[in-house]
Amino acid sequence: MEHNDLKIYKGNIFYFDENVTLKDFTAGKEASGTIYHYIENGLLAVENGKILAVGDYNTCIKDYPDAQVIDYSGKMITPGFIDTHLHVTQSGTVAAYGEKLLEWLNNYVFPCESAYLDDDAARTDINFFLRELIKNGTTTAVGYGPLTYSATDILFEELSRRNIRFITGNTMQDRNSPEYLTLPAKENYENALKIIHKWHNKGRQSYAITPRFAFSSTEELLELSKSLKTEYPDLYIQTHIDENLAEIEGIKTLFPWSKNYLDVYDHFGLVTDKTVFGHCIYLTDEEYMVMRDRQAIISSCPISNNFLGSGLFNIKKMMQYTDRITLGSDLGGGNTLSMLAVLDEFYKVGMLQDFKVYSMTRWFLCTLGAAKSLGLSDVIGSFKPGKEADFIIIDPKATEFVSYRTDRVNDIYELLFVLMTLGDSNLIEDTYIYGKSMKNFV
Ligand code: GUN
Ligand code: ZN
Repeated sequence: MEHNDLKIYKGNIFYFDENVTLKDFTAGKEASGTIYHYIENGLLAVENGKILAVGDYNTCIKDYPDAQVIDYSGKMITPGFIDTHLHVTQSGTVAAYGEKLLEWLNNYVFPCESAYLDDDAARTDINFFLRELIKNGTTTAVGYGPLTYSATDILFEELSRRNIRFITGNTMQDRNSPEYLTLPAKENYENALKIIHKWHNKGRQSYAITPRFAFSSTEELLELSKSLKTEYPDLYIQTHIDENLAEIEGIKTLFPWSKNYLDVYDHFGLVTDKTVFGHCIYLTDEEYMVMRDRQAIISSCPISNNFLGSGLFNIKKMMQYTDRITLGSDLGGGNTLSMLAVLDEFYKVGMLQDFKVYSMTRWFLCTLGAAKSLGLSDVIGSFKPGKEADFIIIDPKATEFVSYRTDRVNDIYELLFVLMTLGDSNLIEDTYIYGKSMKNFV
């Protein structure tokens, strides 16, 4: 058989079994070994951006006698991370001191995002952000784009130049925002339409209807968001909910007819199985039930929640309601794009509530689990042949400190735990997007 562009990667391969769901972990299968594949001295064959085969190196290499082998012996080859909540526009305001959500937005975030009114500055910032994202091993993200049409267009250009799978849209706001970040509802909608026509489902790009949050949206904007979803039912939606107590009080005042925060979005048809809700800390029982019934996608952002003093996401309770739990860095409320660090913080949020989240469970939530929640598991999230070859190389010996500890692990569970607890971008040796190394991408 002729093989174009075939490459063989040799290393310790780790990925989840295709059929696993979050329930399998909670049912205690973590230890049974049926939920994952860990192939020490394994082989990953990649051709034309897709996974061709995976297996034991010594057995499978015979099938590819002439192929180029890239040797990552001793390193882990694993699917790239999926970050389901971040802000492309906030690299310039991470690590801003002393404020909780609403003041933090007004004092730091909105002024920072005003840089995106200039297209050159926007492109520079987007390129910085994407380099950092990829350095951290994230190969798919759901993220908030800029306000304007032209900066959002630049974002999509830069995404497609890298061929990175991404779900994003122009962040729409039409009240409770500074003048420079406020557009009339209709203009937000028209910008969205132009972007959808140009970019949605082009290559690996998907559009997300992005009303920033109900607090900065008029009813007209939410109504127009609904129109977009009605006109284009396959669009994603992303927004924030129940992140901060002052925010929730504000929602009661702005939407006095609403039963609760989620009811505002539900009233406008925005609670769907393609809606990603960031934060979800203060859900009422009724909101948990509606999230479950609509199969909405939850994105927990533990680093941001701790940094902004927002509160603790109730992992145990959410797991009782839904499988569709994913994780987000929420840069710049979160101070890092490392999903390893996000996983570490998620563990600590559990511990603060006397709930232990297994290592495998957490890793699943930002790989195959997120792919399933987003409806993308036919193309990403594991190494099933035919899927897109988005993978990362993790070096467990990248630093002396991590090496000292990983030398002493007993099994894959402990190895994952140590990588999540001690790791960050230092451990990510390379990130491959659609079969291409991003190391020297400029
Ligand atoms: N709610 C509305 N906008 C934002 C934002 O930019 N970051 C966070 N963490 N919450 C928000
Ligand atoms: Zn956010």
